[in-house]
Amino acid sequence: MKKVFVKPNLTLFDLSSNEPLFSPKEVLEGLLESEKRLSSKFFYDQVGSDLFQKITELPEYYLTNSEIEILHNNLEEISDLVGENAAVIEFGSGPPLKSRMLMKAIKPSLYLPLDISKSYLLEASKRLAREFSWLQIRAICVDYTRAFQLPFDPEKKRVGCFLGSSLGNFNKSKALDFLIRTKKFLGHGGELLLGVDMKKSAEILDLAYNDSEGITARFNLNILDHINQLCAARFDPANFVHLAGYDENLGCVQMHLVSEVDQKISVLDTEISFSKGEKIHTEDSYKYSCKEIEGLALQAGFSKSVSWFDNKKYFGLFYFS
Ligand code: AVI
Repeated sequence: MKKVFVKPNLTLFDLSSNEPLFSPKEVLEGLLESEKRLSSKFFYDQVGSDLFQKITELPEYYLTNSEIEILHNNLEEISDLVGENAAVIEFGSGPPLKSRMLMKAIKPSLYLPLDISKSYLLEASKRLAREFSWLQIRAICVDYTRAFQLPFDPEKKRVGCFLGSSLGNFNKSKALDFLIRTKKFLGHGGELLLGVDMKKSAEILDLAYNDSEGITARFNLNILDHINQLCAARFDPANFVHLAGYDENLGCVQMHLVSEVDQKISVLDTEISFSKGEKIHTEDSYKYSCKEIEGLALQAGFSKSVSWFDNKKYFGLFYFS
């Protein structure tokens, strides 16, 4: 673990020196499966994080604005629930506007943003540290989808924030595992603020993941550039196209990259063959009903929930204790 004092109120803990965040072996394993896949965590190099930020500003990608609307309308109640003197732990440092709104309203005594992209995490944390000089920030570079331990004990009530419907990027059993792990991690008296994209018509969802400016397509294709760097691979993104659509039976938007030609690509000295039309699965984005998400949280050991919605009921914010 590396610890760097960045500013008087900002310290960076880099847990990636314990265990690499992105394992080339994992890439190869996914590409050797009969249905090729790449974990969606490989989206988030610096370019991917910047593209995701752009996605959150797109009119079709209603998720972020809906969540901001909910936060805006309910900040007082949320901050009353969190109470004073809490350590707020944000899983994925996300669009800075939401963190800023939360910090301003909650005024926690400690803010711990967790993110897999060190450069993105550092940039976002620096901005926040500059704006809120009273806020103690301990930024932690970690893959929070795996089990990990904080390098210190905040000795305060822990409140987790998992916004943006990132839980949807886990399949149902991984989502349950994550919630169980998080419940344990937050400890006795710990609470969780969870943002969830609700089930809705395929038309709205298809548009959200196929924006007219093609930013989501660039975000999806950028995974290949990231893999090229990580694994000395030779993917040509021009030979793949973006595909995304809502599967109503699964309750999930699935993203793929489709090979436009027959091609062979060397990845870590292994040759991977693609036939024209063959797909690489890159992301699942599950959508929930209230009953489903509350049931999952209950199964993970959380109890009572308060929930808020935007006026179209596209997005939900749940507070589990
Ligand atoms: C980060 N995550 C919640 C986004 C989502 O909607 O599943 C990632 C994303 N993929 C395509 N657009 C946005």
